[in-house]
Amino acid sequence: MDRPKTRVIAKSNAQFQKAVKRLPLGVASTFRYWGDERTIYVHHGKGGRTWDIDGNCYVDYRLGYGPAILGYADDRVDAAARKGMDVGGVFALSTERELIVADRIAKMVPAAELVRFSNSGTEAVMAALRLARAYTGRDSYLLVEGGYHGLFDAAMWMANVDGWDKNSNDDPEVVAYSKGIPQTLKSLVHVVPNNSMQRLEDTFKQHGHTLAAMLIEPIQGNCCSIMASVEYVKYARELCDKYGVLLIIDEVKSGFRVGKGGIQGLYGVKPDITTFAKAVANGYPIAIVAGSEKVMRTFKYGGAAHGGTYTAHSVSLAAAEECLRILDETPALETLANYGEKLKVGLSEILNRRGIVHSYTGHPSMFGLFFAERPPGNYREWKKSDYSFYDTMAYHLHDLGIICEPDSREPWFMCEAHGLEASCLTDTLKAVEQAVDMTLEQLEAEKSA
Ligand SMILES: Cc1ncc(COP(=O)(O)O)c(C=O)c1O
Repeated sequence: MDRPKTRVIAKSNAQFQKAVKRLPLGVASTFRYWGDERTIYVHHGKGGRTWDIDGNCYVDYRLGYGPAILGYADDRVDAAARKGMDVGGVFALSTERELIVADRIAKMVPAAELVRFSNSGTEAVMAALRLARAYTGRDSYLLVEGGYHGLFDAAMWMANVDGWDKNSNDDPEVVAYSKGIPQTLKSLVHVVPNNSMQRLEDTFKQHGHTLAAMLIEPIQGNCCSIMASVEYVKYARELCDKYGVLLIIDEVKSGFRVGKGGIQGLYGVKPDITTFAKAVANGYPIAIVAGSEKVMRTFKYGGAAHGGTYTAHSVSLAAAEECLRILDETPALETLANYGEKLKVGLSEILNRRGIVHSYTGHPSMFGLFFAERPPGNYREWKKSDYSFYDTMAYHLHDLGIICEPDSREPWFMCEAHGLEASCLTDTLKAVEQAVDMTLEQLEAEKSA
């Protein structure tokens, strides 16, 4: 095998040793820590590529977990953001641009009749849940296994699939994601497996009258992009209507990515509330909570509280105006979805030549690669699969100049710049071919050791 040159990340390693003295795990977010000798520090990004401080260049399929929909440092969006800087930041007052952006969102997403802004996906989902509780006068809510809705206490409950006996008929235990989540909150949350109509119906029968909301990511952006079926989401809509429960579709990752109108547009399902973030402004911090007029009017004095000092910051808002214009008026989303299709074809050619069984989940703009004949239909099926090939390959890919998340639950994200720069595809496929062979060799060696 033609051995690729080994990547040097000496400067990143030295930075880690310095940073860890001041920053927990040496990073600003726990998920950015990949190990004492594997954590990289970014110098800059441009288009579909990222450069680390050692000068290594990567084709980047994490894209900051999705926001860089056009590519890093997009000239058009950055120019708009600079104009937003001239406005002056935040005033604890409103600017005219809020309505311009809200009008664009309402045009692209019919369920977004009224719009409020937040700063992050977490904040938007938190506001959406508060809104649903205020509107319905109920406290409980329903989550879907494998979904992720941000780092706030109510959303940080999950089916403990890691600690679950996959051969048992019992459900995985519902546990808090982290220490520090009050156990008293557990009584408010119900969790159902994705794509089981029967379990959904049973749960609504048992708890429907106490639920404020069902919160669903129809394309699970933190779980291999596993998709809920259209029938499942439509049935959820029906049950929500029957029991007076609000349907919140969390499009923080899928929104303005899988289509102009998000996953709800592709599925033809109208939620009561939607949350967006990530792709809204190509990475500038802004998020959205939007929904039907009758629900959204609950944001008022004496209703559900909503606000925040930095909400609708002039820089992020200007970036959002330009980014959404591009996504709405140009073929950017087609370009990146076509690139995703081409990448899948190329990956399959490499894997098929070696007889490696695989499949894909999700949408071409954010897909999961899965080493089994059939992709998982829910989080439990992911657990039952063998993801060791992916986990091993991911680190080889990093060494070969491709950034993907080392955890196979995170999809690969495409951006417009990937599709516009011909060498992204060829560089990726060359690296994948080598990484696959290195993985096969390593796993073989480990087996015979
Ligand atoms: C579906 C979904 N909801 C909410 C969030 C939280 O967003 P943020 O990280 O901006 O707080 C995320 C983050 O990845 C997400 O994927």
